[in-house]
This record gives sequence, C-alpha cells and structure tokens, in this order.
Amino acid sequence: MPNQEHDLIVIGAGPGGYVAAIRGAQLGLNVACVEQDPVLGGTCLRIGCIPSKALLESSDRFYEARERFAIHGIHPTEVTLDLPAMMRRKEQVVTTLTRGVEALLKKNKITRYLGRGRIKGLGRVNVMNSEQVTELKAKHIIIATGSKPATLPGIELDSAYIGTSTEALSFPEVPRHLVVIGGGYIGLELGTVWRRLGAKVTVLEFLDRILNGMDSEIVSEARKVFAKQGLEFRLGTKVSAAKVQNGSCVVDVVGGEPIHCDRVLLAVGRTPNTEHLGLEEVGIVLHKKGYIPVNAKFATIAEGIYAIGDAIAGPMLAHKAEEEGVACVEQIVTGYGHVNYDAIPAVVYTDPEIASVGQTEEQLKEAGIDYRKGSFPFRANGRARTLGQVDGFVKVLAHANTDRILGVHILGPHAGDLINEAGAAIAFGATSEDLARTCHVHPTLGEGMREAAMAVSGRAIHI
Ligand code: NAI
Repeated sequence: MPNQEHDLIVIGAGPGGYVAAIRGAQLGLNVACVEQDPVLGGTCLRIGCIPSKALLESSDRFYEARERFAIHGIHPTEVTLDLPAMMRRKEQVVTTLTRGVEALLKKNKITRYLGRGRIKGLGRVNVMNSEQVTELKAKHIIIATGSKPATLPGIELDSAYIGTSTEALSFPEVPRHLVVIGGGYIGLELGTVWRRLGAKVTVLEFLDRILNGMDSEIVSEARKVFAKQGLEFRLGTKVSAAKVQNGSCVVDVVGGEPIHCDRVLLAVGRTPNTEHLGLEEVGIVLHKKGYIPVNAKFATIAEGIYAIGDAIAGPMLAHKAEEEGVACVEQIVTGYGHVNYDAIPAVVYTDPEIASVGQTEEQLKEAGIDYRKGSFPFRANGRARTLGQVDGFVKVLAHANTDRILGVHILGPHAGDLINEAGAAIAFGATSEDLARTCHVHPTLGEGMREAAMAVSGRAIHI
C-alpha cells in the first residue's frame, strides 16, 4: 500500500481536480487524488466536452459532405453514415485523452486511489471501493467532485429512450425525432449533432429565449441561423412529464398537445455532486442549490477543506474549474492565488459557434454602466468568405469614458478560438483602441475582432 499520509488530498479527477493535483505536485506537495471511476478526466473527458466535440466534428464532416461540398465544385458520388465507426472514433479520442491524464498524474508522482472519497473529519478522508476502505490523512483536502445532470419531476429517465447527455452521446442509431428538453448548452450542441445526422430535432425551452444569460442580440441571430439548419424551437414551453409508452416517448407540455417522438434528451442544467461526501462530519452546510459555500480562497468553513469547480457556485465550465484548482493550490502553498471571473469565456460549439467573455449588453444596462459598442459582420471578412461561413458577427463593448473592454461576444466560425484574444485583452485591462491598433494577420477571422474594436469609435474599414 502506498504512503497514506499526504500533504494534499484531491477528491475528484475531473479538470478541476487533476489540474489542482498537478499544480500541488509542481509546488512540492505530496499529493493524493481520489477518483471513483477507473477512467480519469471526469465528466468533461469521459461524458461531456470531449466526446461531444468529437461528435460535433464528425457530424459536421458528414453534413458538409452531403450539403456543402457542391458549392466547392466537389460532388461525392455517395455519402453514407457509419454511426458505429463515428462512435468508435469518439471513444478513441476519449481514451487517448484520459490515458494522457493518467500519464500526467504518474509523471507528477501523484498517488491515485480508486474509490469513493468520504470525509471522516478534519484532515481525514476514507476511500471506499468494493474491496477495501483506505484511510488517508492530509493537512489539506480539496473537493472537486463536479456535477451531474439535473432531473425534472415527472420525467421518467429510461436509459434506452429518455436520457441525459450521457445517453445522447451514444445513441445506437439516428433518432427519427429527438425531443430536447432545455435550450441551453447541452441541448443545442447535442441537438445539432443529431440534426446533422438526419434526425428531426425539437427543442422545448421553458423561457422565451434560448441560451439564457448569453448576449441577447447574439442569441437571437443564432436562433435564426439554427432554425435555417432545421432545428425546431418551441419557446415558452414547460415540460411537465415524459414517459415511454408502447416503445415510443410521449412528452407532456403545459397547455399544449403531448409530443410523440422516439428519443428524449433531458438537458435542463446540472446539479453539484455534493451528497454523501461526509460534509456534515466537519460542519459544512450546503447552499440550497446544492453547492458548497466557500470564501475567495476557496476555503470552506472547515479548516483545511476547500472546494472548487462545479461543486461551488458559478458557471459549470471545465476551464473555470481548472482556474480555481490552480488558484486554490497556490493559495494553500504560497498565500497568493486568484481567478479573474471577468475574463472567463464561455463557448457553445454549434455551427456557427457562440463565444462570449465579460459582460453582456443587458448586464451593462442593468448595472447602469455607460458603454460604446462596435460590431462587425463576418460577411465582410475575407477569410469567412473563403470558408463559406459568413453568418454571424463580432461585438465589442467598451466603457464609454475609459474605453476599457467590458465584454466581447461572437457568433461565427471558430468563435471559440477567437474569444481567447478577447479574454486576454480583458485580463490585461486593454481598451478597444489597444485591440484596434494591434496588427492582425490577413486574411484571418481575427480581423473581424479588430474591425469590431475599430467600430467602437466608428472607424471600421471594411463595412
Ligand atoms: P443550461 O443551464 O445551459 O440550460 C438548461 C435550459 O433548460 C435552460 O434554458 C432552462 O430554462 C431550461 N429548462 C429548465 N426546466 C425546463 C422545463 N421544465 N421545460 C423546458 N425547459 C426547461 O443547462 P445544460 O444545457 O443542461 O448544461 C448544463 C451545464 O453544462 C451548463 O451549466 C453549461 O455551463 C455546461 N456545459 C457547457 C458546455 C460548453 O462549455 N460548451 C457544453 C455543455 C454543457
């Protein structure tokens, strides 16, 4: 048995946990990482970000080959779908990356424990698996247990037909009609995958808009584009029940006719994995939404016990968890460590992608902050024209007096990559003038960002 006394125990090996463990090892700590799943990487790598992006990529190739090659003068004689092969590729991508995390833990001499971690007291964690209970001790414990799909009363989950994102990443065949409950990140990304592969997709959303919290102007433009792609939206629609009847699914909506379909994806948010962790043993009381309350140093009220990622408040994003993992460990070891929550981007990997960092126009208005706005459409960008992907625009919001960039929102090709420049600009306190004066390579999509920054002071060149 390896040494069971450590400096730091991290519970959970998702992007928050494994990154915290590695940073701890880099800073000279003897680190243990406890994970109940034999595969490392958490939801993101196993059943979230990575497999969904693999399927988005594959389904995009299929759709392109069928629908868009002709405009390039390419006429494939036959384009057929081999779904099992597409799924195998997705699994291979996941396996390569999860093994990579394994190798990183080894390289950093982090001791891995397979089993469920439960806090037994200050500085004490028990790891339980089917064979044994191992008692671990450490001065510091980080809880990085992530989240799980939220459920709704009245929805009878049945892994074959009515499932969450986990099932929708592995449907054995293309559904004829997929009903998605929830017009958020997951609903739109996985709805897009199955739409491209040929399913009729209906998105039922309780609110009168999709992607609540993202910039409304960007989202309303996005919805028009998605509708052209064949995604059907029913907004202001509250789902009250879903069940399997005679081998097909029936979804009940308040004040409307039941919808019959052959698969249902429930994507109405996620809830923190904070149950059965022994938190009560150390006096930690959960917030009513299920997350662990922490202070700015990620410390809970129990000495030496910290929490990060989806287990605490804030957006449930892998990169937010990673930032917190690093900052939490740096706080523990050096007394310094900080996350700039104003510079955490968010991306929805639809086509076009939607990316956002900083504040939306609605948030600025609500806070009474005077701002100036510059927009630039991709239809006026040379590179977007060559790609044949001209939907969408970049929007830069800057403070009316200081010109400091307060928010950047993009709908367009590779928005998820473009947004990192805006994140860096916000992190460095850049102004729109800084971005406008920075030479951008031609012809690139990034020129759209520069032009939007120029448009803040009314001097975009190409529009
Ligand atoms: P979400 O919070 O993004 O969207 C859920 C939607 O369901 C909301 O719009 C809500 O109004 C709607 N809803 C709730 N109850 C309903 C009902 N009874 N009937 C109809 N609609 C209802 O949650 P989602 O899409 O499940 O994603 C969960 C988390 O995973 C998000 O917090 C997101 O941050 C993260 N995620 C991030 C991704 C990325 O970074 N690209 C990709 C996928 C997930």
